[in-house]
Amino acid sequence: MRIVVGIGGGIAAYKATMLLRLFSKAGHEVIAMPTAAALEFVGKPTLEALSSNEVSVSVFERVPQVNHVAQAEQCDAVVIAPATADLMARLAIGRADDLLSATVLTTHAPVILAPAMHTQMWEHPATVKNVETLRSFGYHVIDPAVGRLTGPDSGVGRMPEPEDIFAQALEIISSDGGVLDAAAPAQPQAGDLAGRRVLVTAGGTREPLDPVRFLGNRSSGKQGVAIAQAAVAAGAHVTLIAAHMEVEPPADVRVIKVSTADELHREVLGELNTHDVLVMAAAVADFKPAQFEASKIKKTDDPHQVPTIELVRNPDILKDAVAQRGTGSLPATIVGFAAETGDATTSALEFGRAKLQRKGCDLLVVNEVGETKGFGQDTNEIFILNRRTDDVVNASGSKYDVAVTLMRSIAQQLNNN
Ligand code: CTP
Repeated sequence: MRIVVGIGGGIAAYKATMLLRLFSKAGHEVIAMPTAAALEFVGKPTLEALSSNEVSVSVFERVPQVNHVAQAEQCDAVVIAPATADLMARLAIGRADDLLSATVLTTHAPVILAPAMHTQMWEHPATVKNVETLRSFGYHVIDPAVGRLTGPDSGVGRMPEPEDIFAQALEIISSDGGVLDAAAPAQPQAGDLAGRRVLVTAGGTREPLDPVRFLGNRSSGKQGVAIAQAAVAAGAHVTLIAAHMEVEPPADVRVIKVSTADELHREVLGELNTHDVLVMAAAVADFKPAQFEASKIKKTDDPHQVPTIELVRNPDILKDAVAQRGTGSLPATIVGFAAETGDATTSALEFGRAKLQRKGCDLLVVNEVGETKGFGQDTNEIFILNRRTDDVVNASGSKYDVAVTLMRSIAQQLNNN
């Protein structure tokens, strides 16, 4: 194989020389492609000697060969080690301001990045977001190791050892058809849900306090809408019960708009037995104000006097849907969602397993949420737990990609009924 080894400008650049050796010793042709900053750490002659190939840094070298296009088309993979915070930021926004970034932007081959930086830089929201963006392109970002960093400090952000990068890269290359394959939207099998009736709930409920205020949540409705789209693409007739959403409902679905958990409860139970599948993707408020104030709640002149809001429980719609379904009646498959954070002792997945038993639905889609995960984002990672078989299916990518995987699990579940 022909491997482009991209080298970012960090102290771990010296280890990239070992990576070059590992690839060439294994019989692969290697092209070392440092950034200008990488050459502050390792010399061009070292890279040329180890790779047995000329080294260029800029698109203005070897111009008649249109080097970035030639390298991008001829290579079987681009492996970048170290991938610095700055280099990943440039790749995440599609910059092409040196030979390496221009090659990455042009290639269809798998792109593998081994990050290396200080822990603070790795954990900064900008880097977290960039890594998420790079993964959404289908690039493979290897998790950094924990250990000694530049200077006396240590933590997460150390570049994995060259042997580990080499082994992981070969595994990824053998299983990945390339960037375009990975980034291309997943396609549902058109017939998977042909003629089935699918009821999807999406968005967040709003529980009014007075005519101007409500208790709400951060759900954007994007995942529910993607599920409705994937169900249509799989051949289903779809009803979408939409609570508050930041996105428009898709075309080709019947839409019922609701606001509160009580309204959602009424609509779901009313529609249930005319649908084969219920997907409860909505974020339902567990509590609502005990009392709705007909006029706006006013503050008084006393700065210490604040109103106390008493809450009461909302119905558990998913549980009620499971209870309403009799043996052999519709919907044949009920899917719940669990947005979990995990805590010090229990993982998000373990919380999900317990919830699946508690709710009694057939499938439970668990996704880990946090400041930068889940709500409002365009990508998602989910685990689909099956109550009967205990199977776990993992999917990540755009919200549409994971919805397609969910449609396959639903179709399988319907066929096994
Ligand atoms: N759900 C529901 N009715 C509610 C609350 C949640 O139907 N009153 C549904 C959601 O649509 C989702 C699933 O139940 O499909 C799990 O929602 P989640 O908020 O994670 O679970 P809760 O039951 O609220 O449990 P907890 O907040 O204790 O984790």
